[in-house]
Amino acid sequence: MNSLANKRILLGVTGGIAAYKSAELTRLLRRAGAEVRVVMTAAAADFITPLTLQALSGQPVYSRWDEAGAAMGHIELARWADRVLVAPATADTLARLAQGRADDLLSALCLATTAPLYLAPAMNQAMWRHAATRDNVETLRSRGVRLLGPAEGEQACGDTGPGRMLEPEALLAALSASFESGALAGLKVLVTAGPTREAIDPVRFMGNRSSGKMGYAVAAAAAEAGARVQLVSGPVALPCPPRVERVMVESAAEMLDAVLERVADTDIFVAAAAVADYRPQAAAADKIKKTVQPLTLRLEPAPDILATVSRLPQRPFCVGFAAETADLERHARKKRLAKSLDLVAANRVGRGLGFEADDNELHLFWEGGDARLARAPKPRLARLLIEHIAARYRAGLAHPPQGDDHADHTA
Ligand code: PMT
Repeated sequence: MNSLANKRILLGVTGGIAAYKSAELTRLLRRAGAEVRVVMTAAAADFITPLTLQALSGQPVYSRWDEAGAAMGHIELARWADRVLVAPATADTLARLAQGRADDLLSALCLATTAPLYLAPAMNQAMWRHAATRDNVETLRSRGVRLLGPAEGEQACGDTGPGRMLEPEALLAALSASFESGALAGLKVLVTAGPTREAIDPVRFMGNRSSGKMGYAVAAAAAEAGARVQLVSGPVALPCPPRVERVMVESAAEMLDAVLERVADTDIFVAAAAVADYRPQAAAADKIKKTVQPLTLRLEPAPDILATVSRLPQRPFCVGFAAETADLERHARKKRLAKSLDLVAANRVGRGLGFEADDNELHLFWEGGDARLARAPKPRLARLLIEHIAARYRAGLAHPPQGDDHADHTA
């Protein structure tokens, strides 16, 4: 199964004979739908030209600090990646990474990234077996670095033994599998995403700045975790994530109907949509004409989808978002109780945060616990959120506090 669509792979290429295989790996990653950025060490350029990897990745290839600065700063590049794969990773590279060196661009990126780091070792069998390399491998493994390979077999130098880089197809499969956690295998997840539009007249509406990126990332992450995912989406310009069933709606009322139609068959409900809190009491039948007089719109509360679901007698595990401009923790805790949620994901919004942005930062609250998810691209954050949801769901914390006792409908 391919889970690489829209994933950001930072491919590090170091100076070994297997560097020629990086070209095929780059091609396969692109064909699987991944975005690839290549970082080469100076020694790698002796084995394969940057131009080849630039043509195959469709992106500039980075090897020096100034190049990284020109297109994307090295910290930005480290943050950009969902996975860092160094293939081939020479004995020297393993040693440098084990030491935590930062004196070339690739080593610095590996140190700066919070994305999982994968290494595909490639070296002579005696170098692989050497005690120094064994120690470096152990050090790296103990820090959570994943080693892919090496394979055994005939080597370019004529030796036979362990040290061959895994073939590009095997590396592709391993990277793809790394996005498949199976944490929600067998479960049904319903997600809302995007804004709603509340009609004022046939051509105007009240809406908000939600792009749908966060909710779509949650739907994609749930599908990768093995769930059957249905996504009820407000109007956005995003493609449907792979293996997700999507229904498009416009207003809060339509979103509520679409959710209620599906919720009986749902284990976990995640409300990431920015649903209108108020809507015009009545939409004008014809376009409202412009006059010099001020215009007053009378608004009424829109249905609260999450609160409606969480009060159903047979409710799923309910996850809400809390979008706050101030006093995040207090409001989020209050919202969790007011809406009887199993978990709430709070994010600061406004002034370029939360809405529309590619990155986000979340503070999760549940009965008796909380966790902070540091700033990261929304897809990565969504995968972490799904891990937390799966853990809470599996821990059997599906019995929320009795929110009605504390209900405060201003939350
Ligand atoms: O779409 P993006 O551009 O990526 O931006 C992401 C986001 C900021 C929209 C997202 O991370 C987020 O915070 N979504 C919830 C926005 C919101 O409406 O928050 P709220 O605090 O007003 O609502 C609390 C919860 O109740 C939310 O889960 C919301 O979906 C739900 N709700 C609110 C009102 C309503 N009428 N019905 C609801 O179901």
